[in-house]
Amino acid sequence: MTATTTRELVGIDERRLLRRLDDLAQRGALPRGGIYRPLYSPAWSSAMDLVTAWMKEAGLLTRRDAVGNVWGRIEGSRGGRVIATGSHIDTVRGGGALDGALGVVAGIEAVSSLWQRFGRSTRILECVAICEEEGSRFDTNFWGARAIADRLEPGEADRVRDADGVTLAEAMRAVELDPTTAASAVRRDLDSFIELHVEQGPVLEDHGPRLGVVTTIAGTAHLEVTVRGQPDHAGAMAMDRRRDAFLGAAAMALAIADAAVRMGHPAVATVGTMAVEPSQVNVVPGLARFTVDTRHPDPARRSELITQIGDASKRIASERGLSLEIRTLRDRPPVTLSPRVTDVLRRAALAAGVEPREMTSGAGHDAQVLTAAANTAMLFVPSIGGRSHCPEEATAAEDVVLGTRVLATALRDLAYQA
Ligand code: GLV
Ligand code: MN
Ligand code: MN
Repeated sequence: MTATTTRELVGIDERRLLRRLDDLAQRGALPRGGIYRPLYSPAWSSAMDLVTAWMKEAGLLTRRDAVGNVWGRIEGSRGGRVIATGSHIDTVRGGGALDGALGVVAGIEAVSSLWQRFGRSTRILECVAICEEEGSRFDTNFWGARAIADRLEPGEADRVRDADGVTLAEAMRAVELDPTTAASAVRRDLDSFIELHVEQGPVLEDHGPRLGVVTTIAGTAHLEVTVRGQPDHAGAMAMDRRRDAFLGAAAMALAIADAAVRMGHPAVATVGTMAVEPSQVNVVPGLARFTVDTRHPDPARRSELITQIGDASKRIASERGLSLEIRTLRDRPPVTLSPRVTDVLRRAALAAGVEPREMTSGAGHDAQVLTAAANTAMLFVPSIGGRSHCPEEATAAEDVVLGTRVLATALRDLAYQA
């Protein structure tokens, strides 16, 4: 049978798709709910083994690259540049079953179904399980996609550590990867990349339709704020003589959120971690350190927000007699996705009778990094209650199936040309 670019939606094995999502969710499942699959951990290795076995079962040529991304490939009859799909296998701490996992499992399902139904493609077609996106374990993120897009920093694997002081390079060696070869993960032969992902917000559920295509992905800045005051005895030091670093940090956190609220949607700012020293019940905190994640799709507005965050923190520090240090941990600019590949997705969605909503993604995605290596597009399916990065993350089974069929259809239209 040959595939043609008709308006017919490609069929998939729906039960296999849903069963595999459940199976993958067991890898790294936490006893009290939620999932944690940090990069190069035993849970991560077990998940990678599972998806590799699925690719092999489908008859794809599989390959683990130098940083641990796993690729499954159909060798196209005409060669040339590669059509690819996928997402990340790692999760946040206590995350859900779909963030990243959907794009990995659906990508394997779409490529396997195309192979089973239509045989060899004309273009080379690959699915990929990307090793890391979330920044959950190491003090970096997008490690897998940056390796593909030639965006790793010199010496990064030896410099970046996890909370226990283990370097990325040491963690790689522990899973039999050689950090000195990381540069060989670069792909210069990609034509197109499509990522299917859950929306992670409430727009599609609240306003419809059941599919979205992403035009822009917001830029993210991560800041680390250190506030220094004075440690004192919690019983003996009078309230009006204290320089409590935590209270300063708490006032800053409120002001930071307020700056985003005043700027209005889609500006966001989140204080996601907070540590105090000496962290003892009967000591006034002498130091507080917290992180800020702030995002806006418009680069000018994002810079404005970062300035406001800095100004508000300085004002509070000076009012309370505290010292302040703000460090930029990472700064990822907003990106625009490929209109051409997005149009292929839109036409595939129309084959399912859905005119997809054009959306901006507030969440970061491998796709944003891969714009440096390929013409990239993203397809969103609704998130129930808009919930994500939590154990409750879920999408209706029929939307998971719809998104995967539309993905498979778009891949057919790109990879099975006459
Ligand atoms: C990843 O999910 C991010 O948006 O930070
Ligand atoms: Mn994700
Ligand atoms: Mn995520």
